[in-house]
Amino acid sequence: MGGTRPSIGSLREEARHCRACPLWKSATQTVFGAGRASARIVLIGEQPGDREDLEGKPFVGPAGKLLDRALERAGIERAQTYVTNAVKHFKFEPRGKRRIHKKPNEQEITACRTQWLDRELRAIAPTLVIALGATAARAVLGRATAIGRSRGHIIKGQSLVSEIAADVIVTVHPSYLLRVPEEDRENAFEEFVKDLKLARRYAPA
Ligand code: URA
Repeated sequence: MGGTRPSIGSLREEARHCRACPLWKSATQTVFGAGRASARIVLIGEQPGDREDLEGKPFVGPAGKLLDRALERAGIERAQTYVTNAVKHFKFEPRGKRRIHKKPNEQEITACRTQWLDRELRAIAPTLVIALGATAARAVLGRATAIGRSRGHIIKGQSLVSEIAADVIVTVHPSYLLRVPEEDRENAFEEFVKDLKLARRYAPA
């Protein structure tokens, strides 16, 4: 798709009424991306969690706090970035009073990518996309990606969004770091910070 670049504000407004897949039915609201509209770095997660669904903003819950800590350690100001998700509605399974996260499926990822993520990336035209975890990597690269093998280097020119020149870094999802056994957590966190430092050097604000 060529043509004029959409504005993030108009996309966000449009996305409030998204019906591109059935996830809108049980979610509280669309959680669109947030941050700087001219960011050089875009970070992409999987989908909003429970807190994000209620607050309407990406990465504000426990995974978001961890991401904030890692960004700070890497010398990246979150306010200079744009943070979004591959899928814009919370997918969950009710269990008692709790809502348990469920992974989005292929159709949901594809619907959200063509409807929103592609257009978000075209609007921002970043230098670098950081895919946080396997779902984001699949959405951005269009194929299953082994995070362990793909992380730690710049993946050039393979973003599915062909009109933009953004390169890609694949790394772990912050929620993964929350689940790593305690004795390995510090190391895993440091590896994550290392990936973010590479991003900072490649695309300084
Ligand atoms: N996990 C995500 O992938 N995105 C969020 O916004 C929050 C948690």
